[in-house]
Amino acid sequence: MSRNRSVILAARPRGQPAPGDFRVVSTPRPTIADGEFLLRNHYISLDAGFRNWMNEGSGDSVLPAMALGAPVMGLTLGEVVESRHADYVPGNLVMARLAWQEYSVANGHDFISRLPDQPPCPLSYYLGVLGDTGLSAYFGLTEIAQPRAGETVLISAAGGAVGSIAGQIAKRFGAHTVGIAGGPEKCARLVSELGYTAAVDHRLGSEFAAALRKACPNGIDVYFDNVGGALLEVVLNQINAGARIVLCGAVASYGAQQPLPGPSNLFQLVTKQATMHGFLTHTRVDRYDAARATLVEWIERGEIVPIEYRLDGIDNVGRAFCDLFAGRNFGKTVVKLTDR
Ligand SMILES: NC(=O)c1ccc[n+]([C@@H]2O[C@H](COP(=O)([O-])OP(=O)(O)OC[C@H]3O[C@@H](n4cnc5c(N)ncnc54)[C@H](OP(=O)(O)O)[C@@H]3O)[C@@H](O)[C@H]2O)c1
Repeated sequence: MSRNRSVILAARPRGQPAPGDFRVVSTPRPTIADGEFLLRNHYISLDAGFRNWMNEGSGDSVLPAMALGAPVMGLTLGEVVESRHADYVPGNLVMARLAWQEYSVANGHDFISRLPDQPPCPLSYYLGVLGDTGLSAYFGLTEIAQPRAGETVLISAAGGAVGSIAGQIAKRFGAHTVGIAGGPEKCARLVSELGYTAAVDHRLGSEFAAALRKACPNGIDVYFDNVGGALLEVVLNQINAGARIVLCGAVASYGAQQPLPGPSNLFQLVTKQATMHGFLTHTRVDRYDAARATLVEWIERGEIVPIEYRLDGIDNVGRAFCDLFAGRNFGKTVVKLTDR
């Protein structure tokens, strides 16, 4: 009988996730009922935000808490291989919020975004630059921050999936882009591969504030924040009048055992007449096609270069997720499951 391998949540991570929190199990390949279709997943996307729903009692309006022993929820890119659903036929390609599995059953009601049958880009781009992370960079900058030429745009987790695209989009707007990343090697890559004007190492500790001031001599007009935590407080002390702070994520807090202290200096927002704006990209799914068309144009013109951190095979999915929290990735983290 055909089998399906899935990665289950074997233990709830304590703090940062560890490979032992995940286990690969093999079960019979699922069958579909009326109104359902079976997807063969070509790629699994690893997204730091899903760490939130691995905690006991963490369910919220976005997702339920993940169940122990059940396949880990995540974003996938799959191809319909069997269908009893009127709107999906074999060969259709979709990005969906399903689970870390080789095969998944869907009914079209999950968060799902269709791809063209003949995509103009490599399939994995639909989980990265054309997926939730690239689109977070796109919407966060084009709709919320709206950087102007000459402004300074600061981005945290600047070499990651969201940050690597955000830096390149902000540069396209003529902004000075400054990236925050962990370690000198990653900081050097921000400048040499992603075109950041400057980079600051968040591991500098007490010297971080001075290094940030040096990298942003004209102050900070936009902070695109993927990290939250202590960095935010330091950044708030260096914002300009009218600054826009875009809250995309807070990876520093996802694995925290205790709630992290909030910034003590929110009064900076008052005196600088600045705004702080959080957003969820998937609520804009009706505009994904238009945004993707623009991003594809920018890629074709060489203005955006997608970078991937890619591992192979279902056995490496848990490890790839842990790599995000250890900062081992540069660019979008995906695991390839098939030859497609
Ligand atoms: N709002 C939305 O709809 C939406 C959608 C997608 C993603 N997001 C958010 O976007 C952010 C980036 O997510 P991603 O999945 O694309 O991950 P990613 O940026 O590819 O990887 C995470 C990066 O975060 C950095 N990091 C990890 N722990 C850190 C810490 N304690 N302090 C500082 N930096 C740390 C690491 O880089 P360094 O080596 O530089 O430390 C790591 O490479 C996440 O917060 C995620 O939740 C939001």
